[in-house]
Amino acid sequence: MITIPYLTALTTYFSYGLLFAFGQFRDLFRKIFDWWSANNLQGYASICLGLEDFYVRRLYLRIQYCFGRLIASAPDAWFDVVERYSNDNNKTLKRATNITRCLNLGSYNYLGTTVLHTDLEECVAKFVGKSAAVVFGMGYVTNSTILPVLIGKGGLIISDSLNHNSIVKGAQGSGATIRVFSHNTPPHLEEVLREQIAEGQPRTHRPWKKIIVVVEGIYRMEGELCKLPEITAICKKYKAYIYLDEAHSIGAVGKTGRGVCELLGVDPADVDVMMGTFTKSFGSCGGYIAGSKELIQYLKYTCPAHLYANINLTTSCSTDYICHRSYS
Ligand SMILES: Cc1ncc(COP(=O)(O)O)c(C=O)c1O
Repeated sequence: MITIPYLTALTTYFSYGLLFAFGQFRDLFRKIFDWWSANNLQGYASICLGLEDFYVRRLYLRIQYCFGRLIASAPDAWFDVVERYSNDNNKTLKRATNITRCLNLGSYNYLGTTVLHTDLEECVAKFVGKSAAVVFGMGYVTNSTILPVLIGKGGLIISDSLNHNSIVKGAQGSGATIRVFSHNTPPHLEEVLREQIAEGQPRTHRPWKKIIVVVEGIYRMEGELCKLPEITAICKKYKAYIYLDEAHSIGAVGKTGRGVCELLGVDPADVDVMMGTFTKSFGSCGGYIAGSKELIQYLKYTCPAHLYANINLTTSCSTDYICHRSYS
């Protein structure tokens, strides 16, 4: 927690109080003057919102220069701030010619994909053995926002009974039908798949538009390894996609830390969607999805967590851990 020095807090509140008191005082004089010179429409309430109007006129306009800064570049880590000056007590600001280069300590730039992000994406894809990847600011958000863009109404998600809450929420948010198979039990997964394929969609019994089986590489509470070879074989047999969450296995198992595929000898090509996080082995933050080029391009165009959320530079620093330090 940041502690603000008493002197700073005291002088800030004092300045604010002073501006407020002077503002009220001047407004009082203005009211008396208006009343005396019959400047106002008599009997009407003020058309402007009382305190809001007061705040804009007496406080905001005077101090707007402190936070209403004009920038003349993309809001990246470093950006150009345009200097301004005022001839009328900050009511209006005029643009000066000089520009100051500043460090950006907090802003949002939805378009601000830096080279570091693309480096990280390429690095992750190469690391897990897929052709492309997309990274997100949070692992939880990766699962909960990716599943709804991969599948929807008319689709079927078959989920391991001990899957993480982020998968559960993603599955629920997708609108697809959800069925659960007994934890890490491939024969039960096959039974559920056969039954569901035979029955089809509820009521109409039409074939499912898509089936996705969701499992984890290592189950976090049990420390148990996924029976991935058997599960991928079943998914192939019934033409169901497989979504593998490697939050706890990536960087932790396999000869070079590449996760359960490497450890159990599964070809990454047999896993359609590879999900992982940077929060565990990599000691950073964020999540990723790795898959085919077409899949990743589709996710970049449609996934709200990619389109409407920022990804921070700490996540990009995972590149360092994945590619340059531990596993090169
Ligand atoms: C299996 C699994 N997936 C996803 C997540 C979410 O990852 P994050 O903590 O990076 O948001 C977790 C969190 O522990 C997890 O255990």
